Amino acid sequence: MKRQSIIAANWKMNGSLSLISEMVSGLNQVQLADNVNVVVCPSFPFLTAFTYAAQDENLQSRIQLGAQNVSEHQSGAYTGEVSTQMLKESGVNYVIIGHSERRSYYNETSTLVAQKVAVALEADLTPIICIGESESERESGQTNQVLSAQLQPVIDEIGIEKFLDVVIAYEPVWAIGTGKTASPEMAQETHQFIREFLAMKQTDVANKVPLLYGGSMNAANCEQLLAQADIDGGLIGGASLKVDEFKVICSTAKGYQ
Ligand code: 13P
Repeated sequence: MKRQSIIAANWKMNGSLSLISEMVSGLNQVQLADNVNVVVCPSFPFLTAFTYAAQDENLQSRIQLGAQNVSEHQSGAYTGEVSTQMLKESGVNYVIIGHSERRSYYNETSTLVAQKVAVALEADLTPIICIGESESERESGQTNQVLSAQLQPVIDEIGIEKFLDVVIAYEPVWAIGTGKTASPEMAQETHQFIREFLAMKQTDVANKVPLLYGGSMNAANCEQLLAQADIDGGLIGGASLKVDEFKVICSTAKGYQ
């Protein structure tokens, strides 16, 4: 069985219009393995620029566009928010939901994350659901409990079958933007736990969900991380802002055979 592999760029509140055009031209030269897809997630104002640049450059179709957040509401008086429909109209196919920065700085709970996942799926957007433990949670042996508690509300909201249409990104909070990567063995062990947790509900679904690792992944460490049996790709922050480095990560991904 082949599982889809995904390399996603989370630009966070970085990047520019010129980086959009550099990235689109750069990525168009990358040779991707069979079941590998690439997703670039810039800030909202740059989404349509990516879509136009992709049309102009005739960008290979396995390189797609994602957003970093979405509203749980369909439309209406929600100043500053962006709806699923707006994302669709802008050419977006994926949306990051529940990034640890949204959870910690903007108080997004796992219940809200579950609602956002549901509206994204209704609009035919693929959610990239982020989960991860803090340093103190890992040190006190609570990692598995934290990850289960982040996933359970999503399972309750959408049902396990719908996980065939989602992507999960495991991002240990202590590894984000710190240069401290989880060792390949530690990351694999946690990914295996996530897959087993899903398998307790539905084995076939669990075997198909792409599980991405995020947290200081770069050109130097991606090969070892991506070689792990349950790591199907990466969600990359800092290293995705450098076109040449991101290209190396994309071409390293082999996908699960
Ligand atoms: P870094 O790759 O900069 O550690 O960021 C990871 C991340 O948060 C991606 O969503």
